[in-house]
Amino acid sequence: MRTESSDRSGRRAVTVLGLGSMGTALATALLDRGHPTTVWNRSADRARPLADRGARVAASAAEAVAASPLVIVCVLDDAAVHAVLDPIAGSLAGKALVNLTSGSPEHARETAGWAAAHGADYLDGAIMTTPPGVGSPDMMFLYSGSSTVLAEHRPALEALGDPLLLGSDPGLASLYDVALLGLMWSTMTGWLHGAALLGAEKTPAADFTPLAVRWLTAVAGFLTTYAPQVDAGRYPGDDATVDVQIAAIDHLLHAAAARGVDNALPELLKDAMERAAAAGHGSDSFASVIEVLRPPAAHG
Ligand SMILES: NC(=O)c1ccc[n+]([C@@H]2O[C@H](COP(=O)([O-])OP(=O)(O)OC[C@H]3O[C@@H](n4cnc5c(N)ncnc54)[C@H](OP(=O)(O)O)[C@@H]3O)[C@@H](O)[C@H]2O)c1
Repeated sequence: MRTESSDRSGRRAVTVLGLGSMGTALATALLDRGHPTTVWNRSADRARPLADRGARVAASAAEAVAASPLVIVCVLDDAAVHAVLDPIAGSLAGKALVNLTSGSPEHARETAGWAAAHGADYLDGAIMTTPPGVGSPDMMFLYSGSSTVLAEHRPALEALGDPLLLGSDPGLASLYDVALLGLMWSTMTGWLHGAALLGAEKTPAADFTPLAVRWLTAVAGFLTTYAPQVDAGRYPGDDATVDVQIAAIDHLLHAAAARGVDNALPELLKDAMERAAAAGHGSDSFASVIEVLRPPAAHG
């Protein structure tokens, strides 16, 4: 296969390893922006639709890596990353390697060290969208590691979404990723709990949801108010105290129990608030609940 670092318009060549739902979306976004794109997947048949869109299909991962200065890997997990890359580690020298496979900060740091040992410039990444959102400038792509990779390949990485460089520690993107996913799951489960509550009285989720979305805007404001309190370890209870919120969550527990709705989530939330109150934060703001969540060494 011929190696071509850019096309006539100057768009730099990119290789995508892994063509599951996400890898296919990444390669499609690159092709849509006119990047010469080489693809490879363990199961070769998944490359066919991309070939129809103009991708070059490599016969092996090594051939795919050789084709481009920028190599993006997006496979199932860390074990799959190593299953693909370990046998061809010798071909990575001088390449920019962007790993968009989900993993832990520890995986990211280990892979960064491994990549450096083989002469690759490593950028770890986390994709904050699902495949249909890839290619939208509204969607965040979190990166950490080599700033050189982002600087040299910004147009290609911007083709995927809005690239945000969080720092040089390669573990940061994964750490933000899991923190943001935790926020997403808590929020979505809270919304579903509310939908079950309203649904018990025949109110469709479609009626509840516009109010829920508007409420999330107000909640976003609370987060912005509370962030400096969390950082300072001081929680002035001048808006709504933990004690007031414990009383309020009892109304939710009661309403849900009366309608046969599962209460595991609000029970958990009440438990955290009660532990904060027991630790002396009853008159403090809700931000003081951080004191029962973070490790003891970080207290005060
Ligand atoms: N889908 C999303 O919404 C989303 C969002 C954010 C992040 N992500 C992350 O993106 C990554 C890929 O997700 P996906 O949705 O594309 O998953 P997927 O559709 O299940 O695709 C998995 C990919 O990994 C490959 N793979 C698995 N084990 C392998 C191995 N041992 N050796 C070589 N290749 C292997 C598969 O190859 P075969 O085709 O040969 O099986 C396939 O290309 C994951 O880390 C996921 O967490 C996904």
